[in-house]
Amino acid sequence: MKQYQDLSLKGKFMGRSVSVINDLSTDEQWYLYTKTHALKNAVAQKDDLSHFKINNNNVGAYLVFVEPSTRTKESFLNAVKFHNIKTNIFDATTSSFSKKESYSDTFRMLTTYSPYSLYIIRTKLEGVTRWLDYDLGQFAERMGIQKPSFINGGDGKHEHPTQEILDEYTFLEQNNFNRDYIHIALVGDLFHGRTVHSKADGLNIFKQVDVDLIAPNELAMPPHYKKKMESNGYNIREFASIEEYLAQKKIANIWYFTRLQLERMGEDILQHAERLTKSVTFRQEWIEQMKEGTKFYHPLPRNREYPTIPLFLDKTPLNGWDVQAMNGYYTRAILVGMLGGSLGEDFNGEHLVEKEKKVNYIEEVSTFASVPKEFKIGTKPVENGIVIDHIGKGEDISTIWEHIYKARKILDLNVVSSHGVYKSHKDGQYKGVLSLPELNQFDLVKMKKLSAIAPETTLNIIKDSLVQKKFKIHFPPKIYEFDEISCKNPDCISHPSHSENAMPFFYKTESNTFICKYCDKDHNYKDVWDI
Ligand code: CP
Repeated sequence: MKQYQDLSLKGKFMGRSVSVINDLSTDEQWYLYTKTHALKNAVAQKDDLSHFKINNNNVGAYLVFVEPSTRTKESFLNAVKFHNIKTNIFDATTSSFSKKESYSDTFRMLTTYSPYSLYIIRTKLEGVTRWLDYDLGQFAERMGIQKPSFINGGDGKHEHPTQEILDEYTFLEQNNFNRDYIHIALVGDLFHGRTVHSKADGLNIFKQVDVDLIAPNELAMPPHYKKKMESNGYNIREFASIEEYLAQKKIANIWYFTRLQLERMGEDILQHAERLTKSVTFRQEWIEQMKEGTKFYHPLPRNREYPTIPLFLDKTPLNGWDVQAMNGYYTRAILVGMLGGSLGEDFNGEHLVEKEKKVNYIEEVSTFASVPKEFKIGTKPVENGIVIDHIGKGEDISTIWEHIYKARKILDLNVVSSHGVYKSHKDGQYKGVLSLPELNQFDLVKMKKLSAIAPETTLNIIKDSLVQKKFKIHFPPKIYEFDEISCKNPDCISHPSHSENAMPFFYKTESNTFICKYCDKDHNYKDVWDI
C-alpha cells in the first residue's frame, strides 16, 4: 500500500527529528541560525516572506503538549501558522492516554491523517521523540507513507533542543555572529534544568567555550553533562553561589539563569529551598560589577515568588531575556520550514553523519596451542569444555562474586561447573574463574551477553587439555536486544513501569559507562541489568 506518493513533498530535512540538539550537525545548526537572521531582517524590512513558507496543506503539524507550556507551545503555534500548513492541537487531557493508550499507538493513528506529519511534543517522560522517531519510522515504511518528523519540545529533565536553538541564536546575535569565543555563566538549577543540559552540546557552535557553572551542590550539573562538556573541549569552572563567583575576577558577559524546579525536587532538598534560591538569585548590590555589554538570559518562565532574575532588572540593559524569548518564534519558524520542506535546498554543508565505528570487542587471540595451560574443575583439570577467566579482575572480592552469579544466571549456565575467586599469580589481583566442562561451544549471542555482564574477561575453549580457542571479551559498543536489561531512570520512556515497549538500548561512552539512547542516563554496565 503506497499512499500519498504523488505529492510534491520533498526537502533535504524532511523526515528528520530533533530530539537533542546534536540531531542537527553543527553546519545544519549554523544554516538554521543564518536563515533565522535572514527571516528577522526580512520581517523588519517588511520584505516578501513567501520563500520562507511551506504553504502546503498536505503538511500537518500537531502540537502535543502533555506538560504545561506557554512559550514553546505558543511560539510553535505561531510558527506553524506562519507556514500556512494544517495545524492541530492535541488535547492530551481528554485523549485516550487516560485509557492507557501508548504513545506509539496514538501517533500511528495521527500519522495517517496527513500525507506528511510534523509533531512538536512536550512530555514529562524522557526520550519520547527518540522512541517515536524509530517506531513511527518503521510504521511509515510498513504503511508506505512518508516518515514523520518529531521535535522535542522539552522532555522531563532531559533536553530542550529548540530552547537551545533559540538560546544559541541569541548568544550569536549578541556576539555579532562571531563564532570564535563565548564565555558564559550557567546559574541556578543545573541538575533538573534541561535547557542547561542541552548546552553541553549546543555551545559547540562556538570554537572556544569557557563555561562557569554556578549552583549549590544539591543542584549541580549532573556528571554526565559535565563529562560531555569536557569532551567537547570546554573550559569548566564551578562555583557554589553567585557570591562565590563574584569574589573572583574572570566574570562572564553572558549569564544564563534558570528557575529552581521545586516541583521536581524531593522533600530532602525542598527543606533547603530558601538557602538554595538565595545562592543563585542576583542582588542589586552586584550590578556595579557587571561589565558593559553584559546580558542576562533566562529560558523562562520566571518563578514570580522566587525569581532568580529579580524584577528590578527588567528595565536595565542587562535584560536580554525578552529578546531571547521573542527569538523563539523566529528560530522555530525556520526549524519548521526546514523539516516541512520549504527550506534546505540551498544547504551545502555537512549533514549529520552516524559516527558508529566497528569495534572488535570479541577478539580472538592466539592460543599458543603447544603450551598447555591447566584449568581445574574443583581439583580435577578441565580436559574439555569452556573456562571463563579474569572475571571482574581488579575489583573487590564480593563484586567479583556478584559478577560470577550474574553471569551464571543471565547466561543460564545450569550445568556441571565450578567457580571461584582467586588471586592472580602474575599480579596479585583478585579475579573470578568459571569452569564449564560440559560445554563445548559458546555462541556469539552468549559472548555478546558476557561482554556486557563481565567485560574484559577471557573465554577459553579447551580440547584434550589444550586451549584450542581463546577470546578476549571487551566492553561492547552497545547493549541492546536482551530481555534482562532496562534503563534505570524511572522517567525514561523505556522504563518498564511505563509499558511503552520502547526497546532498551545503551551506547558505551569513552569512560566505559553506558548511556540510554532515549534519556541519556548514564549507567555503570552492572546497572544495565535487572538481575
Ligand atoms: N522556556 C520554555 O520552555 O518555556 P515554556 O515552559 O513556557 O514553554
